[in-house]
Amino acid sequence: MKAFVYAGPGSHDLQDRPVPTLQASTDVIVQMTHTTICGTDLHILKGDVPSCQPGRILGHEGIGVVDEVGDGVTNFKRDDRVIISCITACARCVPCRKGMYSHCTSGGWILGNTIDGTQAERVRIPWADTSLHHIPAGMDDGVMVMLSDILPTGFECGVLKGQVQPGSIVAIVGAGPIGMAALLTAQLYAPAEIIMIDVDDHRLEVAKRLGATSVVNSADGRAAEAVMALTNERGVDTAIEAVGVSATFELCQDLIGAGGTIANIGVHGGPASLHLERLWDRNITITTRLVDTSSTPMLLSLVQSKKLDPQSLVTHRFSLDQIMDAYETFAGAKRSHALKVMIEV
Ligand SMILES: NC(=O)c1ccc[n+]([C@@H]2O[C@H](COP(=O)([O-])OP(=O)(O)OC[C@H]3O[C@@H](n4cnc5c(N)ncnc54)[C@H](O)[C@@H]3O)[C@@H](O)[C@H]2O)c1
Ligand SMILES: [Zn+2]
Ligand SMILES: [Zn+2]
Repeated sequence: MKAFVYAGPGSHDLQDRPVPTLQASTDVIVQMTHTTICGTDLHILKGDVPSCQPGRILGHEGIGVVDEVGDGVTNFKRDDRVIISCITACARCVPCRKGMYSHCTSGGWILGNTIDGTQAERVRIPWADTSLHHIPAGMDDGVMVMLSDILPTGFECGVLKGQVQPGSIVAIVGAGPIGMAALLTAQLYAPAEIIMIDVDDHRLEVAKRLGATSVVNSADGRAAEAVMALTNERGVDTAIEAVGVSATFELCQDLIGAGGTIANIGVHGGPASLHLERLWDRNITITTRLVDTSSTPMLLSLVQSKKLDPQSLVTHRFSLDQIMDAYETFAGAKRSHALKVMIEV
């Protein structure tokens, strides 16, 4: 089968690979119909994610049709249409019983990381009963793919961890798909203001359409001043970091108000500076989280009832044969104006 393979920092290709087979009674094999690329895949290609070794088929998002089913699987049968969660969960180990599926002792974020992923014609899904979701009839394919990773990530790691509340002032640094998912789901809590910060004017325009009350282009290095001016020099209640570099984590520290929460979402490949010399007396909370996808069923029902609409995040469509172009388009978002690229398999 065709599969997109990471071959080491700076090297990757669409290759011919053996078709995956069932390895445990709790596995299913999914025939992929749609997959996509995440900012995290770009981090992997740069060599930022050492757990992902050369030879790995990438991808932890997508939807498909169940093809083969292990004897121990009870919730899914052949031909079911499914959302593949980016997090695999056994639902019985200690972290899973705490709802922390991201740290499942035999799962967590393994797809497209420590086991082969979804940017391929077929994928093996371990612990299928508790790692897949049924797709309700009549739902749009592209919208369903947004439930694999970006919506639960923006919501759990950004909005929930950041304690967004009615009337809050929220800043989101990074207007990529993850930042946009935080922007969409923050609005479930009726914050008074959402300030979106990025270096890409096109993404900031999109953010305005999706509900940002102000946007700041941080390319001139003066974003903190701009945010202070917008907040009567108070700073924000919640600062969500959705990029994954030291500069943006530091920017969150520059614009957080007393008593506020900095919620880090970004995958960091290097150290980030913490300015305790300025923050020690400011009652700040700093959070980190790997998405658990525990909110996926709730987000799916909001999408189904049209209270949440991530449709406009899907900007480009490619076939699996064109996945190299899809990566170039996603990585070159400044030129291509891409947000999520849909890859039809
Ligand atoms: N914690 C988790 O569980 C989890 C899950 C999924 C993704 N992530 C991470 O979330 C982050 C965002 O993902 P994405 O898919 O939206 O990525 P992306 O690369 O598409 O978006 C990042 C955005 O940051 C902007 N940016 C880059 N440098 C900047 C700077 N110095 N100042 C302001 N903006 C800047 C870019 O213009 C871009 O719009 C990535 O680090 C990704 O790995 C984390
Ligand atoms: Zn991801
Ligand atoms: Zn577990």
